[in-house]
Amino acid sequence: ASLEMYVDLLPQMPKVLGYSLKSGHPTPTHLTIGMYQKKWKFHRDLPATTVFVFGPSAESATFPGPTIEALQGVPLWVTWENHLPDRHILPWDPTVPTAIPRSGGVPTVVHLHGGVHPPQSDGHALAWFTAGFRERGRAWTTPTYAYPNAQSPGVLWYHDHALGLTRANLLAGLLGAYVLRNPALEAPLRLPSGDAFDRVLILADRSFYADGSIFMNRTGDNPGVHPEWQPEYFGDAVTVNGKAWPFLPVARRRYRFRVINTSNARFFNLSLSNGLPFHVVGSDTSYLPRPVAVPHLLVAVSETFDVVVDFSASATPEAELLNTAPYPFPDGDAPDRLNGKVMKFVVEPPEKVCDDDHSRVPARLLDYVKVGGEEAVQRRYIGLYEYEDKATGNPTHLYINGKRMEDPATETPRPGTTEVWEVINLTEDNHPLHLHLATFQAVRVRGIVGLEEFKRCMETLYDAVRCGVGRHAVGEEVAVPEHERTWKNVVKMPPGFMTTVVVKFLMVETGRSYPFDATAEPGYVYHCHILDHEDNAMTRPLKLIK
Ligand code: C2O
Ligand code: CU
Repeated sequence: ASLEMYVDLLPQMPKVLGYSLKSGHPTPTHLTIGMYQKKWKFHRDLPATTVFVFGPSAESATFPGPTIEALQGVPLWVTWENHLPDRHILPWDPTVPTAIPRSGGVPTVVHLHGGVHPPQSDGHALAWFTAGFRERGRAWTTPTYAYPNAQSPGVLWYHDHALGLTRANLLAGLLGAYVLRNPALEAPLRLPSGDAFDRVLILADRSFYADGSIFMNRTGDNPGVHPEWQPEYFGDAVTVNGKAWPFLPVARRRYRFRVINTSNARFFNLSLSNGLPFHVVGSDTSYLPRPVAVPHLLVAVSETFDVVVDFSASATPEAELLNTAPYPFPDGDAPDRLNGKVMKFVVEPPEKVCDDDHSRVPARLLDYVKVGGEEAVQRRYIGLYEYEDKATGNPTHLYINGKRMEDPATETPRPGTTEVWEVINLTEDNHPLHLHLATFQAVRVRGIVGLEEFKRCMETLYDAVRCGVGRHAVGEEVAVPEHERTWKNVVKMPPGFMTTVVVKFLMVETGRSYPFDATAEPGYVYHCHILDHEDNAMTRPLKLIK
């Protein structure tokens, strides 16, 4: 029996302040946030589910974790503690590069996605630790992470990043939102504000067993190679803020939604059933220069969009939030009657227009350094490959530039510089590429002609120039959507295309330099953010050099 939709109220995750107020002035603070096993109700009619979740304490831990609110310019320290039991609640696969503690326990490490911070605070996959820091990966240095918060305001999120376990640890619930604000800069924009009207929507698809436990496949589709690993996890149910298909009563006024797609592999192409547009004001950790109204919003795994919806213009008393993204994206199955629905907004009272909505969708937002690319000091070719088992034709693993994650770093930029990366997607899926400690945007998306020939050459030589990239990357050009033309930390890479991105290492648009050494060990990573790809092992080290 399937679960009835729209019976649970959309939760508001508890808020944790990443600063303290001393006589009215925000000052730096230190938080302790733990990871706990507990039970969580995903739906009125589903038995409680065992999850791994974040919280200041076991009692207050939630799925997703608390929303951390930080202020630009006010540094925050967080001690992340692992209080998880000895056994994982989900299957995992020791045949992909994986943290395997000798003494049992669940390895975890926390990454602030979109954050600009020292490498020791980045949550390197090998900086994992088990309960009580009993056992630690070889890149572990410190229990307390420093977040300078010197970067521009926007939506970030924190999540587990342990080697080979990221897909299982996030599926279990180790994720939460982090909103960075700058009131002096943002208040004059007069976007909808306050807890009721400025909300985080954390999307995550999950499948459940009838007893409430989270379903994850226990058998890989190449069990001879990987007993458990499958190339993509897709769930039937869509959860928002930890409830399956929730509803939210809204007044006839404007709301700001910070949408974060925390699914393992599912893209969402969102729309509202009553045709209301999304006024996109930002994405990842940057505002757009001006709002862009779109009827559909394609949100890749780990991508975030900051949007305003104006319910005063609603022609209907209800609006369903729908999803039309095929899975895998873009060539998979169309969503069905379950995962084609996300949540419902109920306009209450249905007729009365709210007369105290002083918010607006301003004509202009914030301007950042324009993307040019002229200042780029380096051009790199980044090839995305999927490898298949000859007998079954099923994927066995995915690599970047044909290299393993543990091979020495080949991308070694200098902090503060700009580079051009030509990302060549030779697979059939769209891969959302995520760079740590960098901000980047697509400037050109161009089809590859003679794809099969180019691919065969690339898979032999791993050298775009010798394989004649100049001859092949001359196909049709696809425009970068206007609402994605800002400094992002995740960019979608369509299959069969070469996407040119301009990358800035460190967020230099504020013109500030930061009080940490970005070139220190253990460095950073860049990877595909489909978690099942990232784990096996579409991840490469990123080593900044002096
Ligand atoms: Cu959101 Cu390397 O991760
Ligand atoms: Cu991928």
